[in-house]
Amino acid sequence: MSVAPMMDWTDRHCRYFHRLMSRHTRLYTEMVTTGALLHGDVPRHLDFDETEHPVALQLGGSEPADLAASARLGERWGYDEINLNCGCPSERVQRGAFGACLMAEPQLVADCVKAMVDVVDVPVTVKHRIGIDKVESYDFVRDFVGTVAQAGCGVFIVHARNAWLKGLSPKENREIPPLRYELVHRLKQDFPDLVIAINGGVTSDAVVHAELDRVDGVMVGREAYHHPWWLARWDALYYGEPASGLRREEVEEAMVAYMEREHAARGTPWHSIARHMMGLYNGLPGARRWRQVWSDHRLKGEPAREVMRRAHEGHSLALTP
Ligand SMILES: Cc1cc2nc3c(=O)[nH]c(=O)nc-3n(C[C@H](O)[C@H](O)[C@H](O)COP(=O)(O)O)c2cc1C
Repeated sequence: MSVAPMMDWTDRHCRYFHRLMSRHTRLYTEMVTTGALLHGDVPRHLDFDETEHPVALQLGGSEPADLAASARLGERWGYDEINLNCGCPSERVQRGAFGACLMAEPQLVADCVKAMVDVVDVPVTVKHRIGIDKVESYDFVRDFVGTVAQAGCGVFIVHARNAWLKGLSPKENREIPPLRYELVHRLKQDFPDLVIAINGGVTSDAVVHAELDRVDGVMVGREAYHHPWWLARWDALYYGEPASGLRREEVEEAMVAYMEREHAARGTPWHSIARHMMGLYNGLPGARRWRQVWSDHRLKGEPAREVMRRAHEGHSLALTP
């Protein structure tokens, strides 16, 4: 199981939060471009908490030498995996000629992968789509995976829909092109020795179970972010651990302790951390009011612990399972 890389969402605070609920799920950073890493503030992009392992750094780029240098930095920083983004359809990313448009250039992706594999010991993996624009044939993605695998990539995470590079926003590109899981299943049949993980539209344990019969892994994005408590079941369901007995209040309490530490160490305001846990109580009575308190901008000057007290004031969330 893994939680997908999501720009502006899966920052280090979000990953810390997710890790509190699942010990084993693999977590991905937001995409970091090679330009930002090689010319920018490296600690800002790469710092993470030791508890986040196993954690993968997702890179965006298309220059083999830059990717190799970035992958090395990532490995030195302690990341467990380096992942190359070949699935992002945004205009900005297309202008940089990376992301999903790289699927049209499998040999370039192979060169990028080889450059990284040559300089790091951790696995180099690729996240991609099943096609770009109106290419519907299976052969396209099969040849892409075949070419890139030869360069030393053994793990492919496949977002099971096309990226339409013109006319759709990134958000629409996660919703409108149809999901075609069967192509991902065929990849696993044709490349049994590769690790193939499926991504896109997975929102239930029933689907996870069904997919794990056909492929090696499942990556969940939006559902994990909006309903994070789902992760609290994954260690027991998918990693053979005993049920944890963890309660949502314990996670919230641990997050407040983290907010206090982050505030003391770096001056991080609690609300830039709390924004990721807004879905914690989703589905329970009182969840809306709890969320409203935690997102009330008038409370920004209050300490996080006081905000938590107010969020639980006068109602029974603390008694819920
Ligand atoms: C807000 C947001 C940001 C995203 N940013 C990235 C990214 O940086 N890199 C990437 O490979 N995919 C990115 N994605 C796509 C997700 O990783 C995932 O492939 C997609 O949401 C489909 O999975 P899902 O249906 O489980 O959400 C992003 C998705 C969302 C919702």
